[in-house]
Amino acid sequence: MRSLGNRLDTVLSLVRAYGPFSLLSDVGSDHAFVAISAVQSGLAAAAVASDVREGPLEHGRENAKKLGVKVDFVLSDGLDALGAYRFDCVCICGMGGELIADILRRAGEKAFCRLLLQPMTAQDDLRKYLWENGFTIESETYVSERGKPYAVLSVIHTGKETRYSYADLFLGQFRPAGEEYARYAGKALSQAKKRRIGLLSRGEDPACEDGLIAEAEAALSAYRQ
Ligand SMILES: C[S@@+](CC[C@H](N)C(=O)[O-])C[C@H]1O[C@@H](n2cnc3c(N)ncnc32)[C@H](O)[C@@H]1O
Repeated sequence: MRSLGNRLDTVLSLVRAYGPFSLLSDVGSDHAFVAISAVQSGLAAAAVASDVREGPLEHGRENAKKLGVKVDFVLSDGLDALGAYRFDCVCICGMGGELIADILRRAGEKAFCRLLLQPMTAQDDLRKYLWENGFTIESETYVSERGKPYAVLSVIHTGKETRYSYADLFLGQFRPAGEEYARYAGKALSQAKKRRIGLLSRGEDPACEDGLIAEAEAALSAYRQ
């Protein structure tokens, strides 16, 4: 299978790890390479690529045609227009964490299957939504592409709420001592330092950011040892 770049290759490696699936959903598909590659490599028997805009959907259709892979294409805001499908894997990649959380909120039980989520921003909002709404993050895989760190979350609905700290929202709860995670924690650290300066300039208490900064620095020093 040809490379889709580190970020989407990681998503596909998780489809492989948890699959094979009978029906995979690629929400916000644009080029639709997640859906196309999953079907092409036999990781999913069938796939639906959906996008909220016709232009990206057409982009995906052209790619599927060029590669000779059968994928269904549906114009849909999140999973809203996909009620007729019974997915066993839903991939939502390359969108903001708040938007992913909103899509899951509206999806209800349609999201009660293997979820592979790759937020570009606001990972804290996404983790908060998941932990407070009965979703369990079973793994987080860290990867970088063109110097930017990403987390890919593998999630399942268990109905159980997860206790978490402020630092967990930004750093996750796994924190492996590898180079990829060190990059991810390094970015979280520099963002926390900026928020801390903002809090101080407004005369607000920076205690939450102080705790997060200490935990991010601990993760980085664990990697350096
Ligand atoms: C940056 S692209 C990501 C494409 C691909 N999933 C990836 O990770 O490379 C984001 C795509 O999500 C689509 N999108 C944004 N909001 C959406 C929504 N509410 N429902 C479905 N698709 C959406 C956009 O039109 C765009 O094609």
